[in-house]
Amino acid sequence: MGTHVLYRAGAGGPRRAVRGEGVYVYDAEGRKYLDGSSGPLAVNLGHGVPEILAAMERQLHQITFAHGGEFTSEAQERAADLVVTFAPPGLSRVFFVSGGSEATETAIKMVRQYWVDAGRPSKYKVISKRASYHGATLGALSLSGFAARRGPYGPLLLPFPQIPEVHCRRCPYGLEYGRCAIECATELEAAIRREGADTVAAFIAEPLSGAANAAVVPPPEYFRLVREICDRHDVLFIADEVMTGFGRTGAKFAIDHWGVVPDLLVCAKGLGAGYVPIGAVVAHERIGDQILRTSGRFIHGHTYAGNPLACATAAAVLEYIHAHDLVAAAKRKGAALKRELEPLKTHPRVAEVRGLGLMWGIEFDVDPGGPALAPGPAVVAAAMRNGLLVYPAGGSLPGSVANQILVGPPLTITEEQIAALGGLLRTSVADAFG
Ligand SMILES: Cc1ncc(COP(=O)(O)O)c(C=O)c1O
Repeated sequence: MGTHVLYRAGAGGPRRAVRGEGVYVYDAEGRKYLDGSSGPLAVNLGHGVPEILAAMERQLHQITFAHGGEFTSEAQERAADLVVTFAPPGLSRVFFVSGGSEATETAIKMVRQYWVDAGRPSKYKVISKRASYHGATLGALSLSGFAARRGPYGPLLLPFPQIPEVHCRRCPYGLEYGRCAIECATELEAAIRREGADTVAAFIAEPLSGAANAAVVPPPEYFRLVREICDRHDVLFIADEVMTGFGRTGAKFAIDHWGVVPDLLVCAKGLGAGYVPIGAVVAHERIGDQILRTSGRFIHGHTYAGNPLACATAAAVLEYIHAHDLVAAAKRKGAALKRELEPLKTHPRVAEVRGLGLMWGIEFDVDPGGPALAPGPAVVAAAMRNGLLVYPAGGSLPGSVANQILVGPPLTITEEQIAALGGLLRTSVADAFG
């Protein structure tokens, strides 16, 4: 029998998942996969954690829907309190949504309303980087310098300015770290001047890039310079922590690695850990307070924003991360994962292995005369045949191919499972390139 589902995957469609347990996923044919990427770096606690299921069930019996226009709930209040325990100082106004793209959309609208309410209505542009991904909806895609995902939608997108990506190995300026002036950061100042600071509302960046440029870690000065430039020109800084938030990189939020405090955070994935669709914008209290003081309300909302079931689940996820000290665990286990991945550097097709905590990217050299399948998807397919899930990445610059993968297992993975992951991945890279 055929299907009525319009799959996003191409011909043949996806395999059918029937069960998840810990770091393993099982399909309808009885195959078992070690989830080396937490899905798309979302299932941060693994599947079927009893504490999360119990919290969900408790909430199911209380109330599953309360409209945010009229009601808050204990679940929403508790989830917001817990989100704030993760966030950098001052970021204490939480607006819940249902995923990462909605969180980016919400941030774009929030910074716009903030500037209007602050008496600066000419500020509306949001500057972003090339080789970035902030979501699939039109506003979020407008900010995403990801050529393949912008695909046919160019005419629909907002013409917001972009600056070059951060990537020392393939420096867009042809410079070398140690002998450069961090031009990838100082270009932000040039872009703000070109556009006119009075038109620029915010700059958005992923602390470590995700699907667009797998786990590229910026030079240590980058975000400090970004912060200084934003402050000099009254431009808000939005950290997109959808992939990196809630412990993934061995810090509560990845931006903490550089001691920089953004004005807003957007987050999703690890907040619901794959149990429910949820995301959030976490704004500095000064932003939330300005909006409430001037307009009386944030002119925005979705039917499922602040949904009690989603919030109760997120609260249970965050409590679990605290109780099991999973932020420190990600750092410790990240060192073990690094030891497993670094031997890949000797493979002739591996160009770079990079990352932080439990978020790692592997970049492959493209063989111009090689097979049609790009190296990223080729390794993903070989890994799947070997019972390992990793996430395809790269191909974000115009004319480039998907030449990367992301590795990011659940923060609950054991050291033995990390060793198994390493073995399966080394076999899969060998298989993919013959
Ligand atoms: C950094 C980043 N921002 C935003 C998004 C969009 O999130 P979602 O797919 O939940 O809409 C993603 C998704 O991969 C992401 O990695």
